[in-house]
Amino acid sequence: MKHRRPFIAGNWKMNGSLSANAALLSELQSGVAGLGKMHCDVAVCVPAPYLGQAQVGLINTVVRWGAQDVSNQTNGAYTGEVSASMLNDFSCFYTIVGHSERRVIHAESDAVVAQKTLRLIDAGIVPIVCVGETLQERKAGQTEQVVVRQLTTVLNAIEKAASDKGMPAKLDGIVIAYEPVWAIGTGITATPEMAQQVHAYLRAQVAAYDQDAAGRVQILYGGSMKPDNAEALLAMKDIDGGLIGGAALKAADFLAIIAAANK
Ligand code: 13P
Repeated sequence: MKHRRPFIAGNWKMNGSLSANAALLSELQSGVAGLGKMHCDVAVCVPAPYLGQAQVGLINTVVRWGAQDVSNQTNGAYTGEVSASMLNDFSCFYTIVGHSERRVIHAESDAVVAQKTLRLIDAGIVPIVCVGETLQERKAGQTEQVVVRQLTTVLNAIEKAASDKGMPAKLDGIVIAYEPVWAIGTGITATPEMAQQVHAYLRAQVAAYDQDAAGRVQILYGGSMKPDNAEALLAMKDIDGGLIGGAALKAADFLAIIAAANK
């Protein structure tokens, strides 16, 4: 029996419209209400222009909301960027950083992902830090090396920022998402055993810094998680939930995954 609370988060990516979102949010809200007592956390990470809509639509429900990215700067001449304090104005609970689509398409480095993580922590927003290897890296046997590099850059930055402030680092103040790049949007899912192996490895990395935090930190799996494979993935010891792309855009599918986590 896992003592960590499961967490299902939807990543809408660059999808949606005011009218489509209104329908999706309302179906989600009533569907979750129908599940009765919640044993898991639920959130949707929506495109930035729709944060106000998500806030109004989800306030006073158990479904939380957040963004998909944040600037690594605090404010100033950064055209097109959105700061953590702006996300705070919409009461974002979570925000994704380091998604592979940002790392690959926008060439975000591990260092930039770490800076974004710190901006969110400073703003009181829980970062969902994505890590994951490409197919090429997996085939080259580099999976562990890649995810450890991505994760430890963030953990080191959190440790240093906390120590600069003379405070203890809170490594379970982030959520980690393992998203193998080759499984994202491809319909190919890591087997539960493959995912579990990397999740256990990630947790061991956190444990090297802080054993207690490692026991508490939520580690989500992302990459073609669907209603028909969610239960098997969620049954694994170190898989605490899912970061859902495509299936989060269909209320019935997203709700089925939430129901699997809520058992
Ligand atoms: P899919 O569920 O569409 O594979 O996307 C996963 C993902 O990238 C979530 O962040």
